[in-house]
Amino acid sequence: MSSDPNLIVGMEHAEDAGVYQLRDDLAIIQTVDFFTPIVDDPYTFGQIAVTNALSDVYAMGGKPLTAMNIVCFPIKTMPVSILRDILRGGMDKMHEAGVLLIGGHSVEDNELKYGLSVTGVIHPAKVLLNRGGEVGDKLILTKALGTGIVSTALKAGIADEPLQAKSARCMTTLNKKAAELMADLETVHACTDITGFGFLGHACEMIEDANVGMRIEASHVPYFPGLKKLVDDLIIPAGLIRNKRHRMTQVLVDPACPESLVDILFDPQTAGGLLIVLGNAEAWELLQKMHDAGIEDAAIVGEITAAPKGKIELVF
Ligand code: CO
Ligand code: CO
Repeated sequence: MSSDPNLIVGMEHAEDAGVYQLRDDLAIIQTVDFFTPIVDDPYTFGQIAVTNALSDVYAMGGKPLTAMNIVCFPIKTMPVSILRDILRGGMDKMHEAGVLLIGGHSVEDNELKYGLSVTGVIHPAKVLLNRGGEVGDKLILTKALGTGIVSTALKAGIADEPLQAKSARCMTTLNKKAAELMADLETVHACTDITGFGFLGHACEMIEDANVGMRIEASHVPYFPGLKKLVDDLIIPAGLIRNKRHRMTQVLVDPACPESLVDILFDPQTAGGLLIVLGNAEAWELLQKMHDAGIEDAAIVGEITAAPKGKIELVF
C-alpha cells in the first residue's frame, strides 16, 4: 500500500476512482472503464461506453477534462466501419461532456471492446466518497433501473422497441447535469454511481460495517416500465443473481416486497445514475431542481438510519 501523503483515494477502498492531490486547491481524479458491446448499434455503443467511463468522475464530484480511447478490435473479421461508428459515438459524447480526447491505444483482439481512461479535476476538500452518510440524510437516485435486464432480453430477442429505446437513452445520458446540480449544495455527504453491483449492491457498499444503517422504500425506486414482466418470464442476468447472492445477508426484506422487485433492485447497470446521500432539506430542493432540469426519473428512495447498523432495511 502506498503511503504517499498526496494520495487522497487509492485502491484500498471500493471507491469509484483514484484521487491524487497536486496542490492545496487541486487534485486529479483518474479512472478507466471498457467493455464489450451491450447494444447492436455501434454509434450508440460508443456513446454508452463514454457515458459509463466518465461517470466515476462525476460520482466523486469532479469535472472530467481529458480522455484516451481504449480499443480492442477484431480487424480480420469485422468491417472497420463499425469501429469508426463506435469512435464517432464516443467522440460526440465527449464533446457533449466538454472532455478533450488526447490520445488512445488499440490492439487486435477476438472480441470487440471499447472504453476510456479519464482524467478529471476536483478541489481536494470536495471529494465525495461513497461512505459518509449521516442519520436522517435522504438518498436520491437519478436514473431508473433496468439496463441489465433489458440487454439480457435483447440477447433473447424479446425486448420491445420502446423498452430498448428507453434503456439506450438512459445509458447515453451523462451524469454531468446531476453532478453539477449536486455541486451547488452544502450537505452532500456521499455519492456513488450505480453500475455492475446493481442499486442494492452499491447501496450496501455505502454502509457496510458503518455506524449507520439505511432504509430503502422499494416502491419509490424508479425502474423501466415493463421490467417486472421480463423478470417474471425469467429474463434474469447472471450478474443479477451474483449480486443478490453476494449481498442478501446485508438486506432485511419486508415480506410484502415482491421477489421480482428485489431482483430489479439488484440488476447490474451500465452507465447507471448517481446515488446521492444528502441532508433532508437539500434533498427536496435538489429533487425539484433535477426534475426542472429534465432528470425526470430522479427520486428520493430512502434514508440513512441509526439502525440496523451496516444493513439495509428494504420496506415495501
Ligand atoms: Co462507479
Ligand atoms: Co468504474
